[in-house]
Amino acid sequence: MKSDYLDLLLKEYARVMSKDENESEMPPREIYYDEEYTSLEFKKVLAASWLPIAHRSQLPNNGDMLPFNIYSEKFLLVNDNDEIKCLSRVCTHRGADLLASKCMENRKSITCPYHSWVFNLSGGLKYAPQSEGVRNFSHTENGLINFKTELWNGFVFVNIDGNAEPLSSAYNNLSDLISPWHADEMEVVYSRTWNGEFNWKVMVENWAEFYHHIGAHSNTLEYAFPSKDTTIDIFNKSFVRTKAPYGEEYKRNTEEKSDIFPFEKIENLPLENDNCQQWVYVAYPAFLIATFPDSIYWIRVLPKNVSECEVTTLIMISNKNKSHNDYDERLKKAINLFESFHNEDMEINASVYSSIRNKITTASDKSRLFPTERQIFRFHSFLSDCMSR
Ligand code: FES
Ligand SMILES: [Fe+2]
Repeated sequence: MKSDYLDLLLKEYARVMSKDENESEMPPREIYYDEEYTSLEFKKVLAASWLPIAHRSQLPNNGDMLPFNIYSEKFLLVNDNDEIKCLSRVCTHRGADLLASKCMENRKSITCPYHSWVFNLSGGLKYAPQSEGVRNFSHTENGLINFKTELWNGFVFVNIDGNAEPLSSAYNNLSDLISPWHADEMEVVYSRTWNGEFNWKVMVENWAEFYHHIGAHSNTLEYAFPSKDTTIDIFNKSFVRTKAPYGEEYKRNTEEKSDIFPFEKIENLPLENDNCQQWVYVAYPAFLIATFPDSIYWIRVLPKNVSECEVTTLIMISNKNKSHNDYDERLKKAINLFESFHNEDMEINASVYSSIRNKITTASDKSRLFPTERQIFRFHSFLSDCMSR
């Protein structure tokens, strides 16, 4: 049962998102901190959609495991005989976390640290010590919950409520655009986790728009990819893509672009011309990637609570790069670039979020969206649609 307050908030959200793009503005601020809104958003958006959790190369062997959380819900990805499964990580006995620590490799089963119940890699309960003394105890009824997974271009997606349409149709057009990069044959060569002191949507908005190159990235990205030259070149109901060409001055002055793209160029990419080297995607609700001539950058964002999220930065390349004798050097360059602009984003996101609940010193009631930040409008049109269903 929704409160009157939430009803009004959803109506206001829908009203703002029904505006013409040229009149677009930011959604009501309450959707970034209201707890009741957040619970409904979990149900209608995050649990109902496909969320990207890992790349296949992060779980190469049977028994490899990767834990993750969404709010307080605890999950575990498991490589079970080459199939990636997503299980609840909460023991069915009395609720201990089965794998609170880091990833595990090459395990044959999962043993609870509390009373040593043993589950197989598909979640079935194999053994519960002293179960002979429990009348009508059923091993089959005490397995771990399985969630729906789908492998899409090498990425492992999870759908919590099990009702989302298959990714192959939801991200159909996106797949056509990404497939020349052969992401399924790539490998994650860098992954770092950061604590985001902001609501998860703030990270999506920041990744989506290019207006902020002019300020937050004035010393890093603006020179090579000036904000004013970026355009939304493709969008539909499931994603928005931004094209970011090289700046004229950067192109004139820099012969060798290897400081930005240090790895070997991927062959046969459909680059429109030499000047367009970067496409940035937001596929709804939270699949954030950028495709470059030599690599894919991915930002995984998972909410921890209403005002914090876990952000992971990842770089994916084709593994033939590893045979280069200056591979370590090249990787270092790519990581330095990614971390330098990501640090700028994390700081500005935290700064924006720290005043989101203010009542006196606030952003404008109508925070208007400028042409190079209208990806935000598209993202929120999707969210607001899901929320009013
Ligand atoms: S809580 Fe896991 S075995 Fe008891
Ligand atoms: Fe940024």
